[in-house]
Amino acid sequence: MRPDAALLAFCCLVLSTTGGPSQDFCSQVLNSDVKPGFPETIKTNDPGVLKAARHSVERFNNCTDDIFLFKESHINRALLQIVKGLKYMLEVEIGRTTCRKTKHPSLDNCDFQTNHTLKRTLSCYTEVWVIPWLQRFEVPVLRCH
Ligand SMILES: *[C@@H]1O[C@H](CO)[C@@H](O)[C@H](O)[C@H]1NC(C)=O
Ligand SMILES: *[C@@H]1O[C@H](CO)[C@@H](O)[C@H](O)[C@H]1NC(C)=O
Repeated sequence: MRPDAALLAFCCLVLSTTGGPSQDFCSQVLNSDVKPGFPETIKTNDPGVLKAARHSVERFNNCTDDIFLFKESHINRALLQIVKGLKYMLEVEIGRTTCRKTKHPSLDNCDFQTNHTLKRTLSCYTEVWVIPWLQRFEVPVLRCH
């Protein structure tokens, strides 16, 4: 029942190439007079960081064919850069929960697997771009291993 590692890698590769900002977005940034800020370290328990991590894991769950949902278990590092909104760069660990995908439960109510055969933790690097005034977010990068 564990997800095929190759499939996962492929899936995440696709995510990080096709899920990226559109060409328009890139040229907009390049042509912008406003210089983007440098990434700065922020607290891993910052509400924005937690939200960004959740967005990433939701994207991860949508992308895998695991029968269980994964949830963020620990955020190791968080950087924030101001670029036409907020860009979070996170190192986050995610773990398999006991919640089945098919039941669409809220991740908040999902506990991590304790069964040794089903337990699984992955380390991910993810970038989440949030445009607060449009209430939009994108996950241009998501790599897990
Ligand atoms: C979820 O996955 C499906 C199929 O893999 C894809 O078409 C869809 O765009 C994904 N949605 C999100 C929000 O990632
Ligand atoms: C752990 O999960 C496996 C696979 O679903 C199952 O066969 C096994 O009985 C479970 N072990 C315990 C202690 O629940």
